[in-house]
Amino acid sequence: MVRTLKIVGTSFFLGYMALMAGPVAAQSPASHQHSFSGADKWAHIFDDPKRDERQKPHQVIQALALKPEAVVADIGSGTGYFSVRLSNMVSKGRVYGVDVEPDMVRYLGERATREKRANITAIAGTPDDPKLPEKVDLILMVDVFHHIENRAAYLRKLQSFLKPGGRIAIIDFRMESRDGPPKAERIAPEAVIAELKGAGYALSGQHGFLPDQYFLIFEPVAKAP
Ligand SMILES: C[S@@+](CC[C@H](N)C(=O)[O-])C[C@H]1O[C@@H](n2cnc3c(N)ncnc32)[C@H](O)[C@@H]1O
Repeated sequence: MVRTLKIVGTSFFLGYMALMAGPVAAQSPASHQHSFSGADKWAHIFDDPKRDERQKPHQVIQALALKPEAVVADIGSGTGYFSVRLSNMVSKGRVYGVDVEPDMVRYLGERATREKRANITAIAGTPDDPKLPEKVDLILMVDVFHHIENRAAYLRKLQSFLKPGGRIAIIDFRMESRDGPPKAERIAPEAVIAELKGAGYALSGQHGFLPDQYFLIFEPVAKAP
């Protein structure tokens, strides 16, 4: 059960921290699974307009340099904060918003209908499979990486969902950021890079303009002919 929403109106990141501190369902040192049911309540946090100031979604999406016909998977899409913005950018393409929490999938599907965003499809993923119906140009994971169980296998599986030239972009909280989930749950960018390398990817870009989060871009390492 999600805790109080009194924090709404103060700060996205403080609200996120307060909620993260509450509904822990199960934890392991490798990943942290929280309850993300109650999507309508989470929407007050994830889609709080105050979040934009530090999340800089427009700058993030500009940096991803997507073509209008691009196909994108927003894995761990939550209430659709990035999915709806991506849908504007890929007007001739598609956004798959993937989440393991059924109520988030329900919420995003209803939001896409309500906002007449025909190029968004909400997908019910599983912890080991995003269940994408086609290969994509970009996989985006914002504040999700530390929630993924068995990341080594999951990351290897993602390779099969990337088109040639496809990329994975990972945005998550820096260890030293004042805001974000509890520090014990964060994963340092060096560790993310090492995990991706182990799963067959190389770092192909990074951006430093987000005040609280790192922003890393990976591509599969080309296999020897
Ligand atoms: C902190 S929220 C971030 C939501 C969204 N990316 C945003 O920036 O607003 C993390 C989301 O990831 C989802 N999630 C966790 N593990 C997942 C997995 N293995 N596959 C897909 N979604 C997952 C959760 O249900 C939750 O909706």
